[in-house]
This record gives sequence, C-alpha cells and structure tokens, in this order.
Amino acid sequence: MLPNTTKPHKYFTELAKTHGPLMSLKLGSITAFVVSNTTLAQQVLLKNHDVFSTLYDLDAIQAHDHEKFSIGPLPASSPKWKVLRKIYNTRLLSDKMLEQMQNHRYRELEKLLCYVKECSQANIFVDVGQTVYDVSFNMLFDEIVDMRLKSRKDQVQRLGLYNDLLDVIFDVMEEQRDNISQDQLHHLLLDLLGAGKDTTSKTMEWAMAELLRNPIILRKLQEEIDGVMGKDNSTTILESHISKLPYLQAIVKETLRLHPSAPLLLPRKVEKDVEIDGFQLSKGAMLIINAWAIGRDPKTWFDPDSFIPDRFLGSEVSMQSQFNKLFTFGGGKKICPGISLATNMISLVLGNLIKSYDWKLDDVGELKQVLDMDDYYGITIKKAKSLRAIPIKRSS
Ligand code: HEM
Repeated sequence: MLPNTTKPHKYFTELAKTHGPLMSLKLGSITAFVVSNTTLAQQVLLKNHDVFSTLYDLDAIQAHDHEKFSIGPLPASSPKWKVLRKIYNTRLLSDKMLEQMQNHRYRELEKLLCYVKECSQANIFVDVGQTVYDVSFNMLFDEIVDMRLKSRKDQVQRLGLYNDLLDVIFDVMEEQRDNISQDQLHHLLLDLLGAGKDTTSKTMEWAMAELLRNPIILRKLQEEIDGVMGKDNSTTILESHISKLPYLQAIVKETLRLHPSAPLLLPRKVEKDVEIDGFQLSKGAMLIINAWAIGRDPKTWFDPDSFIPDRFLGSEVSMQSQFNKLFTFGGGKKICPGISLATNMISLVLGNLIKSYDWKLDDVGELKQVLDMDDYYGITIKKAKSLRAIPIKRSS
C-alpha cells in the first residue's frame, strides 16, 4: 500500500531499488504497474504502444467533460485523436508555424529583459519562478484574448501574419467547422494551457537554480555565449543562434533529465492482457512510467544525481527517437508534440538571462548561498521554494 507520501516519484524510485524496474503495486483498489528503467519504458511505450495508448480514467480530467474532448485521454487509435494530433503537428506546433510566431516570442523576451534590467539597476531580486512563468504564458498566448479576437481579422487575413497559438486556433476554428466542434476547440485551448506553460516555466526555473549552484558550469556557458555573440551586452540571443550553442543545449537536456516536469508522466491504462519482461500485466490496470527514476538510473547515467551537462556533449541523445534514453516528454505515438517549442523557449530565455547577468542569490529568500533544491509534487513538479536572485550586470 502507498503510504501518505507527498513525493510518489521518489518513493517509487526507492521501492524499485528493492523490487526491480517493473513493480506491481496496490493503490487502494487499483492495481498499478510501475516502470523504472529505460529498456522497459522503450518496450512499453515504443514497442507495445497500442496496448498502452489510453490514459487511465482520472477524476481530475473529468471536470467539464474534459476527458471527452481533450487530446490526452483519447487513445491514439481513435479517429478524434488522429484529427486533433494532425492539427497539433501540421498547424499549431509545426516548424513553419513556430517560425512564423518567432517575432511574438522575441517581443515577450524583450519585455522580460527590460524587467530584469530594471531589477538589476535597482539591485532588487527577481522572483525567477514567477517571472519565467509569466514569460512562458505570454510567449504561448497573448494576454488579452478579447482584443485579439477583434484585431486579428485584419492582421491575419490582410497580412497573413500569425502572432501566437491563439491566432492559429482561431483559424483552425473557422477551417475545421465540419470536422471538429467549437467545444472541442475550447478544450484544445485548455490542453495547450495546461500542457505548455507550467512544464516549460518550471524547467526554466530548475535550470536557473542548477546554474546558480554550479558556478563553474555557469561560467562555461557564459564563455560559450561570449564566443558566439561577442561580449556586447546589447545583443540578444535569437533562436537561430541556439544551434551554435551546444553547451546551452546540453544544459537544457541535463535539466530535463534531472527535473522532468511530469515525473510520472500521465498514467496509462493497460488495454489488454500482455506479457512484459516475463511479467503478466492485466487488462484494466494502471501503468505508471517513472521518468524521474529513468533519468537517474545509475545503469544508464554515471553519477546520476549530479548536474553534469557535459554528458550530453557530442552525444546523440534525442528526446524523440526510438533510441530515446530519456522519457521526460513521454514516448510512442502520444509523445509530447510541444518538444521543439518547449526546448526553444527554454534555451532562448535561459541563454539571455545568463548572457548579460551574473546572478546573486537573494539573502532574504534563500539561506545565503545555500540553495534549497527540494521539490513539491503536483501535476507538475515545482521547486518547493521559489528561486529569488538579484541580476548583476556583467561588464562588456
Ligand atoms: C518542458 C516542457 C514540457 C514537458 C516536460 C512536457 C511533457 C509532456 C508529457 C510527459 C506528455 C505525456 C506524453 C506521454 O504520455 O507519452 C505530454 C503531452 C502533451 N504535451 Fe507536453 N510537455 C512540455 C511542453 C509542452 C508544450 C510547450 C506544449 C504545447 C504548447 C505541449 C503540449 C502537449 C500536448 C498537447 C500533449 C498531449 C499529446 C497526446 O496525448 O497526444 N507540451 N507533454
């Protein structure tokens, strides 16, 4: 039986050390199987994805009939999922669309950098968690939906320009009237909000926290950025620079490894009796993938609890391929469709916050230079204590 723990990802990880990478647990009346290593996650999510492509029925997603319309609970075999997934892949989150929305992300980035500059000049702290949350939200959706509804017609129809995801959703609403209901599109908006903003902003906050407690790594990143961008404080890293910044990309991957924002992914349902690794998994049971344990498996990662971005330099670990070793974004057909957008946003914000500033921990918010890295488990995993730090302008 599961004790009353606030950190099930850590509890399951400890249990797996004794009971192995595939465990059967009784959670009240529910039988759950927990997968805790890369090989088994590949077997379940990639090789047998048809058996595990539906979410377990959770009360939380049944509010406002969300489970009937939301992409998450729909099985990958259902026609509704296929229509929605196509909209995500070819419209909302396609490379072309992400490129078209770049200017909007840059405008939000500029607002963030202005705010950080003001804090730096006044020598006051930035609440990093809240600030990156706001920027993630605004990068995804503009603040004032109503104003946008009125003004978009001109902009999109006359000029053919997209601002952010809302613009594309409005367009899809008009185009897909026959295939998809208005209700379904409202739930799509809810899905995007739920799936995109917390996950991305929490990863940004964890990345900043890891850099602040690893000054050698932070310095190495600043050197890489100076080498590509020059030491001029007035330049801004753009998305086109990211491919020239492998250490920045490695830092983002290392953060995603150590701090997967959905550490137990979304629980799946076993849809028919199946044998995995000699274990009989029974139809109707819950399947939990412990991405937190997989990211810290000592058989896959050396010194797994330490923040060592260099491990990703020159390595081909991608979050998308069938040889995936990390399951932070899930896997198989239901893999997160927002990987490119999320990793771009995180790299852009992180790179620019580090490029022009050294950061000093706020002595009031944190105990001197000791950074509390405790986490808090909710739908996404948060830093228990929000990161507060003062930006100190670097000399040019
Ligand atoms: C660091 C950032 C992110 C993380 C860690 C993350 C993680 C995940 C995970 C673990 C899943 C479940 C996958 C599975 O069950 O195999 C998922 C699904 C999903 N994510 Fe993300 N996500 C992130 C950012 C985003 C963004 C920016 C968007 C879009 C704006 C997004 C949209 C979605 C959608 C729509 C699904 C449901 C896909 C389906 O059921 O077919 N995510 N994400």
